[in-house]
Amino acid sequence: MIALDRKLFFRDFDLLANIGLDADGRMQRVAFSDSEQAARGFVEGRMRDYGLAVRRDPAGNSIGTLLGIESALRPIAIGSHTDSVPSGGRFDGALGVIGALGCAAALSTGGARLRHPLAVIDFAGEEATLSVGLLGSSAMAGSFDPAIVEREAWDGRAVGEHLRAGGLDPARIADAAIAPGSFAAYLELHIEQGAILEAHGFPLGVVDGIVGIRRYEITFIGYANHAGTTPMDSRRDALLLATPYVEAVRRIALAHRIVGTVGRIHLEPGAPNVIPGLAVLDAEIRGLDDAALDAAEGELEELANRCEASFARLARVDAVRSAAGPLSVLEATCAAAGVPYQRLSSGAGHDAMHMAALAPQAMLFVPSRGGISHSPDEFTEADSCALGAEVFLQALLRLDATLD
Ligand code: HGY
Ligand code: MN
Ligand code: MN
Repeated sequence: MIALDRKLFFRDFDLLANIGLDADGRMQRVAFSDSEQAARGFVEGRMRDYGLAVRRDPAGNSIGTLLGIESALRPIAIGSHTDSVPSGGRFDGALGVIGALGCAAALSTGGARLRHPLAVIDFAGEEATLSVGLLGSSAMAGSFDPAIVEREAWDGRAVGEHLRAGGLDPARIADAAIAPGSFAAYLELHIEQGAILEAHGFPLGVVDGIVGIRRYEITFIGYANHAGTTPMDSRRDALLLATPYVEAVRRIALAHRIVGTVGRIHLEPGAPNVIPGLAVLDAEIRGLDDAALDAAEGELEELANRCEASFARLARVDAVRSAAGPLSVLEATCAAAGVPYQRLSSGAGHDAMHMAALAPQAMLFVPSRGGISHSPDEFTEADSCALGAEVFLQALLRLDATLD
């Protein structure tokens, strides 16, 4: 019986969790940072330990492959990401990569091989710290947008600078594209990052859909002037012009039953004694219904025009439904293991959204305590992580046995 080696699983999880954790327990493993590159090196080392042949593609994705018994079959891909948001948690993405390594370890220590070749992937730049997210998986799926290279990253530096720091040539990232149908299937293990499974008391979740995500940059032009000597009635304060728009993002999201967030405001010159001359909002909306997103986007753009602000579309990835095959394999595996599960959609974006263009995909969730994520308080019980990884391994074996 091929089974997860829990000791190895937790050893690898803890070793990875310590790479990029700051003194306050916050995960700082931002894409292409030193700590993220160290984590990537650790993961690639473990891939080699577990018998995988490792390559890094032009988008920085780490891909470990294991030959299958029937080499004519297309690989089954499994994986997730090890980059984090600034001051994030230890589980987002990491659980899926360690879970995928656990599958490779179970095969290699068991001296077993799948029918299909296996590809274990640690995707690069999943988080939206580089103006858009899902960078590595979007490049693999052939939808990398070179315009992002010149944009500002979360820390104000150019995205291109981050990419080069990660050893990438921005001009070659698009070469990571592979043809649709290159994989027989894709499975991803991930924390829910929401509170549904915990609230309903389910130990596992089978994901039937992932929200579409759209990101915008809205720019308000004021007039920078002296904060002390400029009378209050003769100011053109860019932040004041932007403030009603922040509230409107919330109002429009509620009206269309989607979610909307302004996660970043950039002010210039950004000194406390200068009236802001420029305010740039990074806003995003998410939802399962692309028509609702279209309607909300129209209202956001129209409002920006009325406010004499510029409205730029930064990124768009449409909602995806999980494929019937992998979905039913995950459900059948939970049932065979006697583990109750709930079907649910994901409000978080995942690399699986782009992998959906390359192969039939589905995801398996474990609960997040209090639904908290993108925070140092992100937490999932050890037993829950191990159960998820074990069922994920059994689902991979089931998929391998049933898929051609
Ligand atoms: O932003 C997201 O939804 C994901 O956690 N990167
Ligand atoms: Mn994630
Ligand atoms: Mn995330």
